[in-house]
Amino acid sequence: MTPEFILVTPQARPQVALIQLNRPKELNALNLQLMQEVAAALKELDKDPEVRVIVLTGNERAFAAGADIKQMAGRTAIDMLLIDQFSTWDQIRRTTKPLIAAVSGFALGGGCELCMTCDMIVASETAKFGQPEIRIGTMPGAGGTQRLTRAIGKARAMEMVLTGEPMGADEAARHGLVNRVVPVGQYLEEAFRLAASIAKMSPIAARLAKESVNRSFETHLDEGLHFERKNFYMTFASEDQKEGMAAFVEKRPAEFKGR
Ligand code: CAA
Repeated sequence: MTPEFILVTPQARPQVALIQLNRPKELNALNLQLMQEVAAALKELDKDPEVRVIVLTGNERAFAAGADIKQMAGRTAIDMLLIDQFSTWDQIRRTTKPLIAAVSGFALGGGCELCMTCDMIVASETAKFGQPEIRIGTMPGAGGTQRLTRAIGKARAMEMVLTGEPMGADEAARHGLVNRVVPVGQYLEEAFRLAASIAKMSPIAARLAKESVNRSFETHLDEGLHFERKNFYMTFASEDQKEGMAAFVEKRPAEFKGR
């Protein structure tokens, strides 16, 4: 089925796929269907052997201005529980391939949470990251209180969550929330550049390395080091590891096949 609220380009660049949120009039407000489409597209692209890295973007004005307030406004707590809208978001976390958010303009509420769920963020200088839910009588519900706090520290996260005041791109870069900030005309190209540099690597090593970095948020050091070591040893089961090390010794570029 063709998605209604997103555009999917499996080969936007060689081995790099693009998902573009496409509800521009609503500033890409994340309604249920849009998030289901994102989850389904990620699942497909994650299985596609021609895709090594995925870029998720919005448009120049808005990455996404949050969950769809109009859709949620009249719901009861039991409606919310039964719909369980954030369960579709778990698919994003299950994506094994590197996922880069290319963010310009508003990344608010669920929009901020969505880009923080990605592995890296390339921001335009106009990007604004915020958790304004408090201003509409609620609070972040898709990871904002957890991921923002881990990314920028308790004091600043607490201030953003309790006042709803957004943070600009430069400050986000200083705090390590985003990888880099570029002029507005370049944010998508810069995300593609980053994606291309990762797509050249062994996809098996990238997958195991991504898993290991993510594990550091979920476990204590001893267990994390153990997990990392197992994944490191696991790379030696791949042809890519043999190719990578042989290429180094033979002083030639490696050609990784994902096996
Ligand atoms: N949900 C539904 N519609 C939204 C929306 C949202 N989150 N954000 C913007 N829109 C709609 C507006 O209603 C408007 O539609 P109409 O033209 O039909 O009225 C259209 O997008 C354009 O928006 P504005 O006219 O408001 O544009 P602006 O430039 O004046 O303001 C803005 C931009 C500051 C981002 C403002 O739209 C805004 O504050 N949006 C809401 C931000 C917000 O509170 N996000 C959190 C949502 S709750 C959440 O995300 C929970 C969670 O944890 C997942």
